Amino acid sequence: MGQVTNERSIVSYHRHAPASQPTRLYDAYKSTPKRNPHKPLIFLPHTLSETTGPVYGHDPIAETDNDLTRQHHGAPQGERIIVTGRVLDDNGRPVPNTLVEIWQANAAGRYVHQRDQHPAPLDPNFSGAGRTLTDETGAYRFVTIKPGRYPWFNHYNAWRPAHIHFSIFGRAFLSRLITQMYFPGDPLFDYDPVYQSVPDEKARQRMISKFDLETTQPQWALGFRFDIVLRGPEATPFEA
Ligand SMILES: [Fe+2]
Repeated sequence: MGQVTNERSIVSYHRHAPASQPTRLYDAYKSTPKRNPHKPLIFLPHTLSETTGPVYGHDPIAETDNDLTRQHHGAPQGERIIVTGRVLDDNGRPVPNTLVEIWQANAAGRYVHQRDQHPAPLDPNFSGAGRTLTDETGAYRFVTIKPGRYPWFNHYNAWRPAHIHFSIFGRAFLSRLITQMYFPGDPLFDYDPVYQSVPDEKARQRMISKFDLETTQPQWALGFRFDIVLRGPEATPFEA
């Protein structure tokens, strides 16, 4: 679809391409009927108040917020990785100075959360949450460990592919994106209704990071690149 504008709208924007976003009511993903509206969505024009409002709180970013391996006394268990990329708007322009937040399971696939009680160990040196601001080129960078795959109760023998959750605010609250970053070649993609809920194959692949030897550091960590497009036809799928 093209650019959207009308008399009441003073800010135009690009809509998502058809089938590039998750199916909101997706039977195979059991919690989608509880989370999503059952009536058709109404598209509202965006005015100055929506597109210029404040986007996040005032807590300063701490030095180790973008390094999840240095938030405790010791190093966490697991495979150290560097995750980096750029945040882009619907015109492909970098989005500087925007908050990028991540959360993830530890190397054994366990979250530090009371609802995650499956029999995998917690790691006293890993909390699994980080945040950073993009630089003037829209780039962000995290050091973390590769998350493990974990079981869930969606259906019999259900396991999630390894993933890192992302939340990005962009220039204003309306461009907020919540998504999941996957790793290349995960055999669980074919069985995962969260991944499969995005109908378009090309859009699904926008959620998969790329192994990057240039980002990889010798004797230290493997590098993965994950560029994020907040809106428009090339947008990274929004988690349903
Ligand atoms: Fe998760």
